[in-house]
Amino acid sequence: MASNAPLATLDQARIAILGLGYVGLPLAAAFGKRFPTVGFDIDAARVSELKSHHDHTREVTADNLREAKLLEFSSDPAALAGCNVFIVTVPTPIDEYKRPDLHPLESASRTVGRAIGRGGIVVYESTVYPGATEEICVPIVERESGLVFNRDFYAGYSPERINPGDPKHRLETIMKVTSGSTPEAAEFVDGLYGSIITAGTHKASSIRVAEAAKVIENIQRDVNIALINELALIFHRLGIDTHEVLEAAGTKWNFLPFRPGLVGGHCIGVDPYYLTHKAQQIGYHPDMILAGRRINDGMGSHVARRVVKLMRQRNQDMTRARILILGLAFKENCPDLRNTKVVDIIRELHCYNAKVDVHDPWVNVEHARAEYGVDLIAEPATGQYDAVVLAVAHGEFVAMGADRIRSLGTPGAVLFDVKRALPRASVDGCL
Ligand SMILES: NC(=O)c1ccc[n+]([C@@H]2O[C@H](COP(=O)([O-])OP(=O)(O)OC[C@H]3O[C@@H](n4cnc5c(N)ncnc54)[C@H](O)[C@@H]3O)[C@@H](O)[C@H]2O)c1
Repeated sequence: MASNAPLATLDQARIAILGLGYVGLPLAAAFGKRFPTVGFDIDAARVSELKSHHDHTREVTADNLREAKLLEFSSDPAALAGCNVFIVTVPTPIDEYKRPDLHPLESASRTVGRAIGRGGIVVYESTVYPGATEEICVPIVERESGLVFNRDFYAGYSPERINPGDPKHRLETIMKVTSGSTPEAAEFVDGLYGSIITAGTHKASSIRVAEAAKVIENIQRDVNIALINELALIFHRLGIDTHEVLEAAGTKWNFLPFRPGLVGGHCIGVDPYYLTHKAQQIGYHPDMILAGRRINDGMGSHVARRVVKLMRQRNQDMTRARILILGLAFKENCPDLRNTKVVDIIRELHCYNAKVDVHDPWVNVEHARAEYGVDLIAEPATGQYDAVVLAVAHGEFVAMGADRIRSLGTPGAVLFDVKRALPRASVDGCL
């Protein structure tokens, strides 16, 4: 019987990062300063922009990429030869039935299986449900490599917590949860991340615990925001200002500071479905998590209906109305369009036959057209709109202030502030 293959020591680590998006690129840049690192992505255009030190997600600067002297980029799986640590940071979306779509994870696992050798380790960072690493991914690596798990190669799971567009919470300054398939693997993964994360690491007791911890971080946010959104729906009907209520309640030491809003993006609105899928697979129907999802998914059309109501109160003819939406990205100061709920506002307004213009200086025009069929306007003209909706609180919009934003509308136009980014008295409606 073959004996267990020893893991490499840290100074022998040759790292491959599979998937160079919001999560993978900052990681590749950090590891590429200390370890020989191959950044691999199936998107050749992405690899080519990174080779010229350009990151369109704006998460890593050109200088940061240049400083990662040991980092190479490739879209050729042959470049992974010789690596002994494989870190998988590919997307984990949901399909049209809101079920986990594990295709990218399965495909990346096949790529790892073809490149990994004895003593190698594969670490998953993509958000999944508890059990996915060992039940879905590891068997693929075993099959492709012909190696035996926990004898010839090992696995780990270390979820990512970065917050795109947030200059304060960066990869290195956020404590990282680590785990491994054996005590030695856990120790290796912990040491590996400990070498780049200044905030420290938390070694979880198992891969499943680490997987579950990640997914509930986002579920907790989703459910908390859903509660506040539901309260906002109630308080609106009662004619009470939600933010004034939250401000008053927030003076209690243990009242949590959540705010109402649209929940989009690749994480908070998606990850809960990974756990609910697993729960349903084992015969448990998760009421609260799914109720939160339903409330949050309805907030875009709620905003649109509120805007239409305010316009009708001003006797505006919806069939001739022109409405300007400021912001399309799923959150402020970030070009990320994935799962943006601003699209729900636009679609609902179209149902009333309104003509809707959308302006977002952060978002790539081609991406908006390809993803959502939205043709962004470069610069909104002044005095043109019957309603202006501040949907995303990009710094540029907040800096404009209410008066300049209002000047984009006709006299008496409605100004609706989804994010409560402007003084309450200067707008006609907000969440
Ligand atoms: N974006 C975030 O803020 C964030 C935060 C924490 C965790 N996560 C999780 O991290 C994972 C990655 O998210 P992201 O935002 O970086 O995604 P992303 O879409 O920005 O990047 C993923 C990259 O993986 C590449 N890719 C897809 N399939 C591949 C394959 N088989 N082999 C190699 N490359 C492949 C894509 O071309 C893309 O460049 C997801 O599971 C996500 O839920 C994301």
